[in-house]
Amino acid sequence: MAGDPRVQEVLERALAEVAGARSTSDLEQVRVRVLGRSGQLTTVLRSLGSIPAAERPKVGEQANRAKVEVEAAIAARLQTLKADEHRLTLQADRPDLSLPGRRVPPGAVHPITRVTEEIIEVFEGLGFSVAEGPEVESDYYNFGALNFPDDHPARDMQDTFHLSADTLLRTHTSPVQIRTMKAQRPPVRVICLGKVYRRDILDATHSPMFHQVEGLAVDRHITMADLKATLQLFAREMFGPTSGVRFRPSFFPFTEPSAEFDVRCFKCGGEGACRFCKSSGWLEIGGSGMVHPNVLRNVGYDPEEVTGWAFGMGIDRITLLKYEIDDIRLFFDNDLRFLQQFAGLPGR
Ligand code: PHE
Repeated sequence: MAGDPRVQEVLERALAEVAGARSTSDLEQVRVRVLGRSGQLTTVLRSLGSIPAAERPKVGEQANRAKVEVEAAIAARLQTLKADEHRLTLQADRPDLSLPGRRVPPGAVHPITRVTEEIIEVFEGLGFSVAEGPEVESDYYNFGALNFPDDHPARDMQDTFHLSADTLLRTHTSPVQIRTMKAQRPPVRVICLGKVYRRDILDATHSPMFHQVEGLAVDRHITMADLKATLQLFAREMFGPTSGVRFRPSFFPFTEPSAEFDVRCFKCGGEGACRFCKSSGWLEIGGSGMVHPNVLRNVGYDPEEVTGWAFGMGIDRITLLKYEIDDIRLFFDNDLRFLQQFAGLPGR
């Protein structure tokens, strides 16, 4: 006997559908339709109870064989379809080697950082090492040890960011002089670069945070001539071979004598009649002087034995001049149109 015609019919239709499935999801639908919970074969198997008892084992066996056959057909078809689909995915994902590459935009070293590194290079070449100090300082290191009298106006809350009566944001890099000298015996040759803070209103030429570089040399027989020669060399390295330095008498509590120093205007070569240097022929850069004997005594040095000089200058100001930038706020705005101009510049 050919068996139950219903089973035969379900089997044939199922095999045809498996063969005709065009994708793995098609095939899954066929599987559910035939072998699923309420699938066609499942239904036949479930209905065995209503078949005459004599035919039951036969039909049952036939239905089970059909089920195995359909399962095998599905498994075989699945392999083929999976392989086809895999091949199609690979084809679709194949990289087009003729496409132009994607550009990775290069970053640029911030102009302040560039100039900072240049300054370090010049002074390292002269045998100076780099010293560091904290930006949150005590009144003692920022003022007291530097020979500021108790009633000095710089100590005023108007000028200095105080964190408490005794702690403040350093107003200059000079406290690093004190820290360095307390930590080592002469000879000393250091520069210190970093952020300093003053209660200035932000405008084109002022910022409440800016950058200074401090230089300090202490040894036997150090003179003001050494200071001037060092600054002269620095000016030439920084602003070109025609640059130069001049001193103007000044006053700082921690140096005696004290001098402000200017570099020759590299725009007009010192001629004047130039807007860049306001017709003076000179650009103001910083303060300097011979380390005050009181400061040497405060750090335990003997002013009869050693002398020293120090200078301090604004890195932001040097950068403004060097790149002819007219607004200090540009350094802190992080405007890519500004910063990108420093990408790929020669030097660093
Ligand atoms: N610390 C001084 C200032 O910030 C600059 C300076 C440094 C002057 C060293 C003399 C010597 O104005």
